[in-house]
Amino acid sequence: MHDIQESLTDYIQKHPSLKYIFYGGKGGVGKTVMAGASALWFAGQGRRTLLASTNPVHSLSGLLGQDVYGKPTAVNGTSNLWAYEIDTHETIGRLKLDIKQKIQWFLKFAEISTQADAFVESATMNPAFEESAMFENMVDLMFKDEYDVYVFDTAPTANARRLLGMSKVYSLWVNKMLKSRGEAQSLRQLLSFTKKKEEDPLMDYLVSFRDRMGHARELLTDPEKTSFFFVTLPEALPIAVIKRFINWFHDFGIPVGGVIVNMLIQKAQVQPGAPEFVKNRVKMQQSYMDEIWRDFDGSVRALIPLFDNEVRGVESLSRVFDQNWQNWDQVAQP
Ligand SMILES: Nc1ncnc2c1ncn2[C@@H]1O[C@H](COP(=O)(O)OP(=O)(O)OP(=O)(O)O)[C@@H](O)[C@H]1O
Ligand SMILES: [Mg+2]
Repeated sequence: MHDIQESLTDYIQKHPSLKYIFYGGKGGVGKTVMAGASALWFAGQGRRTLLASTNPVHSLSGLLGQDVYGKPTAVNGTSNLWAYEIDTHETIGRLKLDIKQKIQWFLKFAEISTQADAFVESATMNPAFEESAMFENMVDLMFKDEYDVYVFDTAPTANARRLLGMSKVYSLWVNKMLKSRGEAQSLRQLLSFTKKKEEDPLMDYLVSFRDRMGHARELLTDPEKTSFFFVTLPEALPIAVIKRFINWFHDFGIPVGGVIVNMLIQKAQVQPGAPEFVKNRVKMQQSYMDEIWRDFDGSVRALIPLFDNEVRGVESLSRVFDQNWQNWDQVAQP
């Protein structure tokens, strides 16, 4: 018989400095629910917790049944818990202005007389721009450091991984930019009669940007501070998705906390006279559970049953990590 070797709560207790929690997995597997349930759990331990969505398609207000859009909002009926759906449109607008200013500086610096608008459009119409806006939002929250724990309800995991990978690429790119800007600047200084150091806001910006990204990367790759958990169902596609993600994350040096299996049918409730449909699903889940125990040996952190209703509101979230579910496998087959 298989069993959980280290549960989610064991894992969290063994990592007392854990501060940034993420959930990844295929669409619809229960990432938002797990983020909500674990944020509630941390808050229940007396830690100031922020449940934040950086996803442009927010679902926290729906999950909690209260409006948490635009600013961190205390979650009704809890203590120590705030939820926050970040206004990405606002960030995008702000970043567009910011970039416009940088491009204008650059054009002036390079003595190119043209309008910045066309450059700004091409830089910001790019879909990656929205992703980097989300990343900026997340990093801002992390640096403000106003909470003990941050649980992020992220966009689908491919983006999360790309976002983190991006910080590495950014820093390579910025270092290159810095090098050539440094060369151009010293050439200018050589050619100018005044020996006074020229002001270079763009250079200053690049340096602070690189340092910011470097710091974010440090936090996000620190296994004592950060954990990504992967949510799957006992079904082929969600399992295949998290296997791929876990490999990518290992390649990027991003800490993986383990796997959560969601929507397991509780065998105790399936009587011999149950409909074929239900018995077949139980059989299907069992065969994928065999695969899960085999391939994620030692990193299964929780088994969550399929509830008879959707998970909405604090009350139903608080049931998700009930320790009793762990007995799932001990119930006799129908
Ligand atoms: N164990 C469960 N039992 C019953 N319903 C569940 C369970 N877990 C999640 N759900 C329901 O399944 C739906 C999808 O869950 P959720 O929104 O958390 O998934 P998600 O992975 O965040 O989706 P997306 O990829 O769209 O962000 C929701 O309606 C939720 O209430
Ligand atoms: Mg979601």
